[in-house]
Amino acid sequence: MLLVKINCQCEIGESVSPLRYNLQRISLQWEISFKKLTKSVVYYYFFVLILLLLFSFCNDYALHGPVFIQEPGHVMFPLNSEEKKVKLNCEVKGNPKPHIRWKLNGTDVDIGVDFRYSVVEGSLLINNPNKTQDTGTYQCIATNSFGTIVSREAKLQFAYLENFKTRTRSTVSVRQGQGMVLLCGPPAHSGELSYAWIFNEYPSYQDNRRFVSQETGNLYIAKVEKSDVGNYTCVVTNTVTNHKVLGPPTPLILRNDELLEGTKIQEHKNSRIITDTSSCQQLCLLLSF
Ligand SMILES: *[C@@H]1O[C@H](CO)[C@@H](O)[C@H](O)[C@H]1NC(C)=O
Ligand SMILES: *[C@@H]1O[C@H](CO)[C@@H](O)[C@H](O)[C@H]1NC(C)=O
Ligand SMILES: *[C@@H]1O[C@H](CO)[C@@H](O)[C@H](O)[C@H]1NC(C)=O
Repeated sequence: MLLVKINCQCEIGESVSPLRYNLQRISLQWEISFKKLTKSVVYYYFFVLILLLLFSFCNDYALHGPVFIQEPGHVMFPLNSEEKKVKLNCEVKGNPKPHIRWKLNGTDVDIGVDFRYSVVEGSLLINNPNKTQDTGTYQCIATNSFGTIVSREAKLQFAYLENFKTRTRSTVSVRQGQGMVLLCGPPAHSGELSYAWIFNEYPSYQDNRRFVSQETGNLYIAKVEKSDVGNYTCVVTNTVTNHKVLGPPTPLILRNDELLEGTKIQEHKNSRIITDTSSCQQLCLLLSF
């Protein structure tokens, strides 16, 4: 004969759900006694199953402080987005069920006052997000009778790209054979940018003589040729919003003193001696890419 006595005690605090509202204490006591248990494998498995069920029941309903299942992450929201709401995730477990609050830049988000906000299963939903009102650092705070936990800081930012302020750029004149750089100078923005250049009407290709820096947007051209003469326009794309803006065109011309100093320049080209510092820097940049 085998006697198994399992004692499982679960305490339930405040109302967890209407069903269990009045339950202050669930006490389970199991007495299982099987004769000739070892004879039957079926009984054995049945016994293990009951043990597992009891274990998971006790585990789920045991009282404990709040624990994060999911913490909020940084959000980059496209300002011109079709979707007019943003969600900051937060999922917490705990018993009693934790109460969840949100903070923006360290002060409580007043869910009741601003109708744009709502908390759905812990996550913060913001309808019609507004750059001036909603940009900032958010934290999810979960509290029950056992304690309070504070999530990591999650930044909400708005991705945008303004138009270029200037309409014209002054002409750049270069000696044939020299290296040069055309500055893009992207307008005010938030979110990652990508850069390209238009040469006259055509997208400028990159080869071993031309290079567009994806850091600054600047266009580098080595050993300028007659065919490089024309208008250059920087094209800036915000990779988050896919919004694209064109810069003012920069005309490029060849300097005429080439004829007077022809031999000297030829010499420079062959020996790679450059006398003025700015072209030296440009060449260094070109060689380093
Ligand atoms: C965003 O909020 C600011 C300040 O409250 C307000 O002036 C502006 O009109 C709002 N923008 C939009 C698109 O609702
Ligand atoms: C929160 O703080 C950031 C950084 O200081 C600031 O740019 C933003 O405007 C603030 N947000 C609000 C809603 O005050
Ligand atoms: C460059 O732009 C100027 C002004 O828009 C125009 O007069 C000129 O013909 C253009 N040059 C080329 C090579 O397209």
